[in-house]
Amino acid sequence: MAAKRRSKIWDVDRNEVTPESIYLNRRRFLKSVGAIGSAVAINGFACKPADEEKADTATTDDSSSKPTPKISEEIVIPNTPTSDLYPAKRNDAFTLDRPITDEVVAATHNNFYEFTTAKNRVWKLVSSLKTRPWTVEATGLVKEPKRYDIDDLIRKMPLEERLYRFRCVETWAMAVPWTGFPLRELIKLVEPKSNAKYIRFTSFNRPDEVTTQRFGSYKWPYYEGLSMEEANNDLAMLVTGIYGHELPTQHGAPIRLIVPWKYGFKSIKSIERIEFVEDQPGTFWNDLQPLEYSFHANVEPKVPHPRWSQANEWLIPNRSDSRPTQLYNGYEEQVAKLYG
Ligand code: MTE
Repeated sequence: MAAKRRSKIWDVDRNEVTPESIYLNRRRFLKSVGAIGSAVAINGFACKPADEEKADTATTDDSSSKPTPKISEEIVIPNTPTSDLYPAKRNDAFTLDRPITDEVVAATHNNFYEFTTAKNRVWKLVSSLKTRPWTVEATGLVKEPKRYDIDDLIRKMPLEERLYRFRCVETWAMAVPWTGFPLRELIKLVEPKSNAKYIRFTSFNRPDEVTTQRFGSYKWPYYEGLSMEEANNDLAMLVTGIYGHELPTQHGAPIRLIVPWKYGFKSIKSIERIEFVEDQPGTFWNDLQPLEYSFHANVEPKVPHPRWSQANEWLIPNRSDSRPTQLYNGYEEQVAKLYG
C-alpha cells in the first residue's frame, strides 16, 4: 500500500495529536480554577558544565518561608491587564507528530538557572520575581530606541497560538501550545537600521527579588542572540502565553523567545532588552563553554554534544518514551535555507 503523502513537514496523523475537545475542555477548566495536578519529580541532565554544577550548591530555596499565591499547586497563572487576550486563536498550520505534553509535567520540569539548577523545583521558587510592571527595551541600531510597557506591546501584536515541538540540548523534549507573535512583527515595529545584522536578547538581573542572583556562581543576566535572518524566520516567536493563558513565571513570564529548531537554551526567558547590533553577539552558554554550546545551536542529531549523543530524544516525563532526533527538530523545510 502506498504511503500517504504529507503535504507539509509538520503534517501528522490526527490520532497522534491530543483531540482538540479534550484540550479545549482542559483550557476552560484551567481558565476557571487553574491547573490541578501533582508535582512530578524528574531528574535531568544538567545543561551547565560539570565543574560549575559542583560549585553551585548555594541555591536558596526560600519557598517554605513565602506563601505562594495558589491558583494550583504548581501553576500560578498571572492576572494581567492583557488576560482578556487568552486563549488566542490557534494557527492550524502548526501541528505535531506527538501528543501535547501534560501541562503540569511541562510546568514542573523547567530550566531557569536564575532560580535553581533543579528542574523539579523551579516552580516552587519563581514567585519572588515580579513580572508586572515590566518593560522591554528595544534599542541599538533601530530608528528610535524605545522602552515598551509589556501590556502595551502585547496589545499591539497579533497574538496566536502555535503547537511546537521543543527540544532541550539535554535530550528531553516536549510539545506545547505557545501563545505569542512572530518576532518579525516586533522587528517591523522598531525598524532596525540596515547595518543591524544580529539581535541580542537580555534577561533580568534582580538580586533583590531572586536570591540566587545575589549568591550564585553565574554572571547574570542570561543573554542570547540570533542573526536577523533567523529572527525574521516565521517560526521565531516572542511568547507571552502557554496552554491558552499567560505564561506562568517558570516558563519565562512575561515574555520569552521560542526558536523551535534550536536547542532550548536559545529560547531565553523573561526578556528585558532586545538590542539590534552589527556583530555576532556573545551568548550565555557559549561564553561559558564554547566547545559545548555553539551560537547557532541548531538541533542536529548527527552532531553529538561533547558529553552525550544527540541521536535520540525522550518525551517528558518518561525517559523510556524515546525516539530519533529530527534534523532542525523537524522544521527542516522552514529553516534549512538559513544554513545552506
Ligand atoms: N532563560 C533564562 N533566562 N534562564 C535560563 O536558565 N534556560 C534555557 C531556556 N531559557 C533558561 C532560559 C533552557 S536550558 C531551556 S531548556 C529552556 O529555557 C526551558 O524552558 P522551559 O522551562 O519553559 O521548558
